[in-house]
Amino acid sequence: MTEIRTLAADDWRIWRELRLAALAEAPGAFGSRLADWQGPGDREERWRARLDLPGACHFAALLADRPAGMAGGVPVPEPDGEGGTAELISMWVDPVARGRGVGDALVRAVVRWASAAGFGTLRLSVMSGNAHAAALYRRHGFVPTGPAGGRLLPDGRREHVMVRTLRAARRDDTGARDG
Ligand SMILES: CC(C)(COP(=O)(O)OP(=O)(O)OC[C@H]1O[C@@H](n2cnc3c(N)ncnc32)[C@H](O)[C@@H]1OP(=O)(O)O)[C@@H](O)C(=O)NCCC(=O)NCCS
Repeated sequence: MTEIRTLAADDWRIWRELRLAALAEAPGAFGSRLADWQGPGDREERWRARLDLPGACHFAALLADRPAGMAGGVPVPEPDGEGGTAELISMWVDPVARGRGVGDALVRAVVRWASAAGFGTLRLSVMSGNAHAAALYRRHGFVPTGPAGGRLLPDGRREHVMVRTLRAARRDDTGARDG
């Protein structure tokens, strides 16, 4: 069974372990690079500051008490839309834990956090071709927005923005695979 744990700054070692594993395992899925968080970038105060971001929330998924996945929610600096917008970030599930509902539990945790915090919209970015992630998000009611084919990034990748309106959708949020 998946346990979702909210992480505070003192839990920085858990977030660090998961984040370094994520950036190593799925470099194409994220904007951040593993190299940015290694060597001189790999400092306790930096990880703590990440978990202390004002208004943000960070989750670890535990399977049999072992960290198996992660996700976060952060406020978008320029509020737009009723209630403002939050962004779902850093979603990753350890390959050995995939296909067991861990991603679903993490999405639900971020949706619950954003709804409880009063955000009207939750958005996220997914790279073109990341079919498993896009399917997970669609299952939870996120719909693509922005230009057809996605937005071209400076490094040549394309990303799609997906959004979910929270007020209309939060009624559904108790099901195992809502959307
Ligand atoms: C996207 C991700 C979080 C989904 O995790 P999950 O909890 O396994 O998601 P699902 O339960 O929806 O997976 C459904 C099925 O796809 C399979 N699957 C999921 N991700 C897969 C992947 N990257 N490669 C191959 N198969 C994958 C699962 O094993 C499962 O198969 P099954 O139904 O036969 O058991 C996970 O694939 C991941 O961490 N990917 C790398 C990082 C990433 O893309 N993050 C999202 C950034 S926007």
